Amino acid sequence: MVLPRQTCGLFTHTLLLERYPGGRQRLDRSIQGGELFQTVINNPINVFMTHMSNYGNDRLALYTFESVVKFLRCWTNVRLASAPPLALAEKYFQLRPDELNPLWGNPCDDIRHRRIWSKSKWCDTLPKILVIGPQKTGSTALYTFLAMHPTLVPNLPSPTTYEELQFFNNNNYLKGLDWYLNFFPPSQSNNTQITFEKSATYFDGDLVPRRAHALLPNAKIIAILISPSKRAYSWYQHIRSHGDPVANNYTFHTVITANDSSPKPLRDFRNRCLNPGKYSHYLERWLTEYNAHQVHILDGSLLRTEPATAMNTLQKFLKIPHLDYNKLLKYDAKKGFFCQAVSGEKTKCLGKSKGRIYPPMEDRSAKFLRRYYSTHNTALSKLLVRLGRPVPQWLKEELTTNG
Ligand code: A3P
Repeated sequence: MVLPRQTCGLFTHTLLLERYPGGRQRLDRSIQGGELFQTVINNPINVFMTHMSNYGNDRLALYTFESVVKFLRCWTNVRLASAPPLALAEKYFQLRPDELNPLWGNPCDDIRHRRIWSKSKWCDTLPKILVIGPQKTGSTALYTFLAMHPTLVPNLPSPTTYEELQFFNNNNYLKGLDWYLNFFPPSQSNNTQITFEKSATYFDGDLVPRRAHALLPNAKIIAILISPSKRAYSWYQHIRSHGDPVANNYTFHTVITANDSSPKPLRDFRNRCLNPGKYSHYLERWLTEYNAHQVHILDGSLLRTEPATAMNTLQKFLKIPHLDYNKLLKYDAKKGFFCQAVSGEKTKCLGKSKGRIYPPMEDRSAKFLRRYYSTHNTALSKLLVRLGRPVPQWLKEELTTNG
């Protein structure tokens, strides 16, 4: 928690009244109805940092605050009270619960902040591209393809969450900017390179768009979309293979058709499974923070079947030198996906957890989900038209099947 402080016009260089810029008159004006008076009267809680009396035993801070209190008592009905700092802090956050969590900005954006930012720290390597997911749309494939580009440098891997840092959407955010920056060391990239990060849980994280924008206002945002029904099914299979008890106790159909009288763990699981597929809802939230021209909506089906075509459009959006992915990716019949072409006929595919083999979705589940996502899909198609973006084939198909 970070408590904001007010400024009172006294600084290290204004410890002596006789040296106060503008003289005593100026300080008195601030006290008697001027800036300091206004600050105190307009803020329900005021936190000031004053200097202790100095070696010359100047009492400027005491004079200033005693005077402003006297003035307020004399000329207003404001009731002043004081409390120990911790109690004040608690009161402050009761009044301003929205400020409980800090919001990190870029320390290098403001020249005054940059001046006091430690020489041993940096901020130039903060990512300029964020791949936000959602989960199970091909985000790891995209991450791998981007990392193959000589202009792009991913974050260092995290020991706990592998390639995903999941900074903006969970408690890692509270570890602060240093924690995040350490995954983007200056030594890892040169001046012409661009750093990027991918965390597929960013897409639907409540606080993520606001937090991301506060730190990375100029970043380019990439969302990947596939059929929301397929995404939900892939997510269920993914979680099930990790031994999740809910996924193992309930069939996919039971999960998606859970209702308000279902046990809470099942309802929660259903929400986690289905909510990220309400694409337009989450995209609109991103678009309240970022300009539409900063946001690329990538067709995840195209990335899967024609990755080079999808990567061409993406490279144009990112304004990076063109790399021919036709030469770098090769279809691997055994895996059933495009993989990195290595020497000769060899390929390097994503691990077993990507492109899993599982039975096809039951017809009744597919039918249920088509109806479930129908309004969301319509809203997505309207959103894409509004933004002048192509409507992907999978979305056209889902909308016609509904009709
Ligand atoms: P399945 O494992 O259900 O088939 P994410 O990386 O966001 O978790 O997405 C995983 C999904 O990416 C996989 O889901 C798979 O269908 C899809 N995908 C797209 N291109 C792929 C590729 N080249 N290799 C492996 N999986 C790919």
